[in-house]
Amino acid sequence: MDYTALKIKVTDIVSQSGLLCEDKLLKICHLLRDSIDYYDWVGYYFANHERRELVLGPYAGEATDHVVIPFGKGICGQVAVSNQPFLVEDVAAQDNYISCNIQVKSEIVVPLFVAGKNIGQIDIDSNVKAAFTADDQQFLEEINQMVSVLFV
Ligand code: SME
Repeated sequence: MDYTALKIKVTDIVSQSGLLCEDKLLKICHLLRDSIDYYDWVGYYFANHERRELVLGPYAGEATDHVVIPFGKGICGQVAVSNQPFLVEDVAAQDNYISCNIQVKSEIVVPLFVAGKNIGQIDIDSNVKAAFTADDQQFLEEINQMVSVLFV
């Protein structure tokens, strides 16, 4: 499935009535993971700004021990501070990286903004080295824009 078809499906999920926000996000995580072969783990983390921590939300893929990540720690924690997308071609080359699974080779994290505030992020791991490109980044920014309406 291409990005355009996926965006239509995500719009459908977001606008579905009778589904909780968590269930919509879970469906989106599974849709992305099932549709793009190099998306091996897809999940959302949400910011607790008072505690300066990220908390794991819905995800598709193997369970992770990293349910809470302090701001600044790992790729996710860095994005919570920088408010910028982070593409990692080779996780082994990163000093500030939290490994969830030894098979993971590359990662992309894209912040989720609601009314200009970074409330969390989508995090995707790939078992393929240098899997993610600027196209993935743009696609995920668009997905997050669609998802942001769930939080207004
Ligand atoms: N690798 C992330 C931790 C989250 S797991 O990928 C699910 C990081 O370095 O922040």
